[in-house]
Amino acid sequence: MTPEEFRAAAHELIDWLVDRRVAIEDRPVRPPVEPGDIRRALPSQPPQGGDSASDLIADLESIIAPGITEVQHPMHFGWFPSNASLSSILGDFASSGLASLGISWESSPSLTEVEEVVVDWLRELTGLSDAWSGVIQDTASTACLVAMLAAREQATEHAQAGGGVLGFGKRLHVYTTGEAHSSVRKGALLAGFAADDIRVIEVDPVSRDMRADALAEAMAADVAAGGVPTIVVASLGSTSVTAFDPLPEIIDIARRHGAWIHADAAMAGSAMLLPEYHHLFAGIEDADSISWNPHKWMGTILDTSLLYLRDPEHLIRVMSTNPSYLQSTAGGEATQYRDWGIPLGRRFRALKLWYQLRLDGPESIRQRLRRDLDNAQWFADRIAEKPGWEVVAPVRLQTVCVRHTPAGLEGDAAAISDHNQRWVRDVNVSGAAFLSPSMLDGGWMARVSIGVESTERRHLEQLLDLMDEHTRI
Ligand SMILES: Cc1ncc(COP(=O)(O)O)c(C=O)c1O
Repeated sequence: MTPEEFRAAAHELIDWLVDRRVAIEDRPVRPPVEPGDIRRALPSQPPQGGDSASDLIADLESIIAPGITEVQHPMHFGWFPSNASLSSILGDFASSGLASLGISWESSPSLTEVEEVVVDWLRELTGLSDAWSGVIQDTASTACLVAMLAAREQATEHAQAGGGVLGFGKRLHVYTTGEAHSSVRKGALLAGFAADDIRVIEVDPVSRDMRADALAEAMAADVAAGGVPTIVVASLGSTSVTAFDPLPEIIDIARRHGAWIHADAAMAGSAMLLPEYHHLFAGIEDADSISWNPHKWMGTILDTSLLYLRDPEHLIRVMSTNPSYLQSTAGGEATQYRDWGIPLGRRFRALKLWYQLRLDGPESIRQRLRRDLDNAQWFADRIAEKPGWEVVAPVRLQTVCVRHTPAGLEGDAAAISDHNQRWVRDVNVSGAAFLSPSMLDGGWMARVSIGVESTERRHLEQLLDLMDEHTRI
């Protein structure tokens, strides 16, 4: 492809993407496709080349786009907001177009230094002190794994330089709750912790926040048995019900045993942009690491997850590689982000944040977050006053967990659970809206996660009508 062909094709692609965005409400949220449908519509033989960019757009239009669940749709209330603000998409285009290689400071000085500046902007905007240093990871799952590896090495006095974890000879314990995201357990297993050494700490039955007394007991018992409390992963905004584990108490207990504290605020971290929500993150300054995803509610397109550390030098010691072919005259003066995570080659992800913050600005992002929080409260109030409906978990931010009990089924937990699973599935299959079914206390309920950039109050009114329609027996 020549640069001029690229220019023409890029214009055509952008026009098509803009038209799609504008007409997003005309499409179903969840596409009516079955597993294998998309694959069958594509040729099984590799192409020979020679297609035009317009041919590709025709296939995007007729085959590929119809197979996408529209998470930018205003009636998308599933999982968590996965906003991709247009400003951040421009940053993503710029990153791709600049096509730089992030393997060392020297391979792209701007890639490193823009990242340093942008993560620092976000540190300041979220009220973290300048004792924190940040880096962009691909996802919160990776950030958690990186924290686990750092914690493991802290607890074993850098065993990787000698006999490794197995040679260390003591059991290393991880503490979290059953509300924590599945990536916590996955990260622990990948970092070499034994499944039996992951302690699932009891939670408060209403808020689902970790019980600090149960954590203290579990750590004391592990120490008495000769084990080493290694890391606590506290959820600040858990996936299902937005539980907030009590950081100040957790930190107090963990510090007594020398354990690392990682705060996982993947979804809820965007709320740190709002000073009036800082109380939910009390204690954060004394943690060892925190990760949150601008690529969720804040609206930066994937993959933009922030990891902040109190002591990046420890992480660098764990992650550092310095083969001769990567050494440069910049030496120790420059940040080498390859030593702050797992991959060597990194994309210029910082441009996504740089574009979004400069074009949209923090104040407009804050306004949108506040709108979503108001909408969530309004929605919870409507549910609470509707006969047969209940809000089944505290509404801490923008997620409202609801359950419906039809007349006649009161007291029949199994039937109520089946009913809730069915109506959520029916709404999702209809394509008119999308919600996530989730288990709470052994029964199905629906999570209504509010926060897509384009979702307004009228969309929540539509959702209430749909919920009535699909719960009529
Ligand atoms: C609390 C929490 N942690 C971690 C994750 C994983 O995020 P990522 O997809 O960035 O790995 C999620 C995703 O829903 C989450 O809600």
